[in-house]
Amino acid sequence: MCGIFAYLNYNVGRERRYVLEVLLNGLRRLEYRGYDSAGIAIDSDLTLEAQNENGKCKPYHSSSPLVFRQEGKIESLVTSVYSEVDKLDLDLEKLFLVHAGIAHTRWATHGVPAPKNSHPQSSGEFDEFLVVHNGIITNYEVLKQTLVRQGFKFESDTDTEVIPKLAKFVFDQARDGEGGVTFSQVVMEVMRQLEGAYALIFKSPHYPNELIACKRGSTLILGVNELGGETSRHLFHDVKALTANEKPKELFFSSDLCAIVEHTKNYAAIEDNEIVHIKDGSVSILRFDNEKEMPASVQRALSVLEMEVEQIKKGDFDHFMKKEIHEQPGSLTTSMRGRLKNGIVGLGGLKDHMRTIRRSRRIIFIGCGTSYHAALAARPIMEELTDVPVTMEIASDMLDRKALIFKEDTAVFVSQSGETADTLHALEYALENGALCLGVTNTVGSTLARKTHCGVHINAGCEIGVASTKAYTCQIVVMVMIALAIGSDKLSTLAKREAIIAGLTKLPEQVRDVLKLDGEMKVLAQSLIDEQSLLMFGRGNNYATALEGALKVKEVALMHSEGMLAGEMKHGPLALVDEHLPIIVIATQDDSFSKQQSVIQQLHARKGRLIVMCSKGDASLVCPDGRSRVIEVPQVADCLQPIINIIPLQLLAYHLTVLRGYDVDQPRNLAKSVTTQ
Ligand code: F6R
Repeated sequence: MCGIFAYLNYNVGRERRYVLEVLLNGLRRLEYRGYDSAGIAIDSDLTLEAQNENGKCKPYHSSSPLVFRQEGKIESLVTSVYSEVDKLDLDLEKLFLVHAGIAHTRWATHGVPAPKNSHPQSSGEFDEFLVVHNGIITNYEVLKQTLVRQGFKFESDTDTEVIPKLAKFVFDQARDGEGGVTFSQVVMEVMRQLEGAYALIFKSPHYPNELIACKRGSTLILGVNELGGETSRHLFHDVKALTANEKPKELFFSSDLCAIVEHTKNYAAIEDNEIVHIKDGSVSILRFDNEKEMPASVQRALSVLEMEVEQIKKGDFDHFMKKEIHEQPGSLTTSMRGRLKNGIVGLGGLKDHMRTIRRSRRIIFIGCGTSYHAALAARPIMEELTDVPVTMEIASDMLDRKALIFKEDTAVFVSQSGETADTLHALEYALENGALCLGVTNTVGSTLARKTHCGVHINAGCEIGVASTKAYTCQIVVMVMIALAIGSDKLSTLAKREAIIAGLTKLPEQVRDVLKLDGEMKVLAQSLIDEQSLLMFGRGNNYATALEGALKVKEVALMHSEGMLAGEMKHGPLALVDEHLPIIVIATQDDSFSKQQSVIQQLHARKGRLIVMCSKGDASLVCPDGRSRVIEVPQVADCLQPIINIIPLQLLAYHLTVLRGYDVDQPRNLAKSVTTQ
């Protein structure tokens, strides 16, 4: 998965320095999506390269674009851009009344991180077409063979490179034929040939001061900032409707809203198969249809972004992960806002489907990674309150097995980003099989939100640290609320439901309380920094806590860690236990407490090095001889306990990472959402 970004100013003077900073800053905001390499393309005012070394003339009149590509994080690109600017003696103060720039940050899938594999990818000599791409082109090998036969030379190992080359091929063919071809006609023809998932932005010196973006699968946002007056929020359609005036304006394309919020709150989420063409300061949206020669123009109203700039900044924190861990009292409050009234749970996104959900033969939770763990944490209460059997599916495994799914099933898809390829493919599969599909996501307008029949947004706010923290706890809260809503017609569970609702209202305060363990977790992390491995045992409501705690440790602290079902300990893992291997046992109060006490005894009998998480005041029950380290947390309703219990483990993973000297927010080899299978 990658981040794409573009900036076009129209009728407003912007210095080259400003344009560069907007593009580079856009990339900084998107860096969490991938940080293997990055690149930008801007306009030059150089006419030097009118001919190449073989005397071949530049095939266009406008100036050549300047392309900068660099391996590594955005800051490496920044350094290399400014050093190139110096070498080229480029005037950073040069004013552009119109300028179209594109930018990309990459998570490597095809080809190692290297400048040649970074985007913008080019059509070749003179950079006639430049493309930034988020997604995967599945038929690139066939296209490449065809283009090679046509004389194109490929320089990268990417799937993306076929796109600009295909654009040049289409352009040359059209030009050699009857004459003019518009930029959107070129892009439309390219789309006709591409298979896979993508969001693309094109820039071409054949079409100076224009930009085109299109999408199929991957998310694409258009941001509009009209300067010197209110942005008109009418529907816009065809060329010259939205911005059919000479008003100065700035237009943006981005893979997500985080990169535009500091510029504008007016945006439109682009739909699949749409092509957005910016020309002469106007925006047109065309709908591509493979069957039809002519695209239809699309009407779209701008939406208003409900996000504050503070959400995408670290504020007083050193890292986004720490900020997001500490934001949890607030994010949980927002998740519940307006949904708990007079002891009743109201979830507007489900109300029309409640009867069908209640009648389901089965509820299937589907997700990946942390989102799967959140669903696992909510499974016991979902079963208890609904009386419907609940099964769990990791999205990729469900697809590998072609697991059975029926039209009487309710499939609950859980995904922070709403973009995860495995989860989206599982969603397609469930839709094909006729199941009712319900989405639980943090991302309004995401593919998951759009393609499910119904759903609930978790409203956790922007999560930028690659390791999911606040989204996890908000996902659990939302799924507990879903269980309460589905089970609200059962008298037998009334007392339990009332207790949970009372527990939910107190939860943010208790989370605030548990966050005070920050210092204690830092001390614990200090004692673990040189370990090779860390085990975590949980069961029942807190099996998910063990899995999620271990995932946090391995993904950010780069330490081997496994979460295990405590009931399985004696069936194998016990062999690992000795006085050296640190083991965290989660033994807070609930129905499984006495079983966990017995696990602790068995581990002690093998001289295990234990760290026990227990409810406040229970230290002597879980550690009578005072030999183990104890983490005491507030006791809450059993189904909410995983929310409390994960927080010390999030803090532990955070401190372990910082103390071991690794990158907390951008762990090695990872990216925020994984849009490849
Ligand atoms: C781990 C983490 C991942 C994601 C997983 C699914 O901290 O964030 O395990 O949970 O890649 O992503 P979403 O929730 O966006 O579908």
